Amino acid sequence: MRVIIWFGALLPIVYAAIRFSAEFHPVWLRDIFVFIEGYARIVLTKTPTDPLKFLTDLSGNSGLWLLAVTLSITPLRSYLKINFLKYRRFLGLFAFFYALIHALLFIAVDQQFDLAATAHEVITKPFIAFGMGAFAILLLMALTSTRKLYPKFRGWHKLVYFAVVLIAVHFLMSHKTVTFSHVTVVGVLLMLLAMRLVKR
Ligand code: HEM
Repeated sequence: MRVIIWFGALLPIVYAAIRFSAEFHPVWLRDIFVFIEGYARIVLTKTPTDPLKFLTDLSGNSGLWLLAVTLSITPLRSYLKINFLKYRRFLGLFAFFYALIHALLFIAVDQQFDLAATAHEVITKPFIAFGMGAFAILLLMALTSTRKLYPKFRGWHKLVYFAVVLIAVHFLMSHKTVTFSHVTVVGVLLMLLAMRLVKR
């Protein structure tokens, strides 16, 4: 099971490697990718035109979906009696890993470690402030998820509910226009939260 999780969680990195190496694809591999593109709505044969935006979006979405998978572990157990509880921390850490890449891309690449400029972005752009708030909670959870610290900080981990709400708002506000698919993503997140709250 751990191998499947490793494989699934690292797929976004494989995808990024495929996109950034597009110019060097051998012909036989390119033919396979063109074939896949024909059937799945996925681009494999073009180098991203805006690499920073590509990586920010990829890491943000990967963090969001891995968090959703992590949140589904409790409802899976209470509603369907499928117990993947022992993998919850592992999945949560992968979600944090992508959130960390996402945050670092903004602070290190976009803002060039200029902390005054970063603080200005947080103050003037509410969607950045919501993202930062969510990231701070995920950081706290990752740091206190060790076997030794978790029992002491168990209560603090309820903050994940707040983090998910912040991420949902951050996600919606990061787009100029909100589409049906954006609302669906937020609906899935909120439904997972509701399922955890209603039955435990
Ligand atoms: C340090 C905190 C954060 C910062 C500075 C930040 C920054 C950004 C920026 C600048 C964008 C817009 C990229 C664009 O122009 O398209 C964005 C989008 C996004 N962020 Fe964050 N973010 C933060 C935290 C998070 C967290 C914790 C998550 C979830 C785990 C997240 C998930 C997303 C998603 C899903 C998008 C939309 C990507 C898309 O358009 O498909 N962000 N974020």
